[in-house]
Amino acid sequence: MNKILQLTDHLLISEGATRKCYRHPCDANKCVKIEKEADGTNQHDVEAHHLVKPVLNRYIAAYDNELVATNLGKALVCELIRDDNGPPSHSLAHYRRAGGNPQRLTPQFTEFFNLLRENDLFFYDFNPMNFIIQQTAKGEQLKYTDLKSLGKIKTAFSLEKIPYFARMKLNRRIRRFTNRFLFPAETSSP
Ligand SMILES: Nc1ncnc2c1ncn2[C@@H]1O[C@H](COP(=O)(O)OP(=O)(O)O)[C@@H](O)[C@H]1O
Ligand SMILES: [Mg+2]
Repeated sequence: MNKILQLTDHLLISEGATRKCYRHPCDANKCVKIEKEADGTNQHDVEAHHLVKPVLNRYIAAYDNELVATNLGKALVCELIRDDNGPPSHSLAHYRRAGGNPQRLTPQFTEFFNLLRENDLFFYDFNPMNFIIQQTAKGEQLKYTDLKSLGKIKTAFSLEKIPYFARMKLNRRIRRFTNRFLFPAETSSP
């Protein structure tokens, strides 16, 4: 029988607007995500992972296939991205604050965004907290750690139900992210 995982504040790594991310209490290679408001985000994320894994393997964490029970509710369990098997890797936001040059990651961002475009993987949530830069002896590896925006539309009548418009929105979001966070100087001119 599966035990209920016990999560405590001291296991908390980081949090986004929707979820809190904890270290797994029994496995240093995994993390556990809890929805702040139970709204099905974790289930959607797991299903998105299943769909995109064959294409994006290098750029995403490994996931457990099913949600698990914890003292804080149902949770998603996935690989904890760590630097050389040590501490959790930092987000792109932290990397930039610490003086890292995100342009060093341009080849990886380009490949990642091209994979999305070529395979109609319509993700819309590109922000510097959702990208993690893993530092390893081999170099820096980009990871996209939040898959819940795949195919997300606001209403049943959203234009993005039609692939042409979904592609336009994906491209807009990629451009906006790139201009803001990878090449900010180029956008500051009038
Ligand atoms: N697999 C992971 N390994 C390491 N850190 C992670 C991982 N997944 C998420 N995080 C950290 O936890 C934060 C919140 O997770 P995220 O899934 O983005 O939550 P939300 O759905 O609220 O945006 C991320 O911004 C990131 O810094
Ligand atoms: Mg996020």
